[in-house]
Amino acid sequence: RADIPVITIDGPTASGKGTLADEVAHQLGYIVLDSGALYRTAGLAAFRAGVSLDDGPGVARIAAGLDLHFRKGRAILQGEDISELLREEATGLMASQVAAHPEVRQALHQLQLDFRRLPGLVADGRDMGTAVFPDAGLKVFLTASAQTRAERRYKQLIGKGISANMESLRADLEARDARDKGRAASPLKPAQDAQLLDNSGQTIEESKGLVLGWWQERQPF
Ligand code: CDP
Ligand code: CDP
Repeated sequence: RADIPVITIDGPTASGKGTLADEVAHQLGYIVLDSGALYRTAGLAAFRAGVSLDDGPGVARIAAGLDLHFRKGRAILQGEDISELLREEATGLMASQVAAHPEVRQALHQLQLDFRRLPGLVADGRDMGTAVFPDAGLKVFLTASAQTRAERRYKQLIGKGISANMESLRADLEARDARDKGRAASPLKPAQDAQLLDNSGQTIEESKGLVLGWWQERQPF
């Protein structure tokens, strides 16, 4: 599959990865991989099965056997639409707990590679450029200040009618960042050949324009 184009977008929580990945993929007609959704589902499924999130091999067995499908942007686990549950901050925290186990990362590796299909893929997460698609044609590392990210998440939740508290949101977000950066297995860090993009003061349209420009510069024709 090495000839199938891939763009990776990695970065901390609420930096805008998912939104940017969707926009860029839509423009290019590419497939999207929201790798965080896989870790979120693994955390949720393990929790529901009563498996301790500290039990790497136990969670990995659950992750390897997930009956998960994506249909029209919805995540379906064993016939149940879990899309809303997946987006909860509590699920994000469970995801980052199980994501620290190398066995869990290994169990989800092939599943992620399977998303590499024609005409191309935009993959977002923490280690898309460093570990899963190291040969990607363009790697973006997206960041924004913690304050900006907390404000974005706050607005996103309030917009969905979910009550939220700025201070606890920012604390959760910084705790998750610290765990994702500090772990030994595929920590959150830019690939050596990544384009760094701090979008704190940018609109989604501006970031999208930059990424599409970089992608065009890399095309041989
Ligand atoms: O996927 P990730 O957690 O990195 O972030 P996201 O869910 O794509 O974006 C978090 C929120 O920030 C969304 O509501 C975006 O619309 C918003 N956002 C923004 O307001 N301005 C940007 N330049 C990027 C994202
Ligand atoms: O949307 P947000 O950026 O908040 O989170 P996400 O991308 O859905 O990821 C949830 C958690 O899964 C992260 O905090 C990471 O611990 C983990 N994750 C990972 O380890 N590797 C990935 N490629 C994607 C997510």
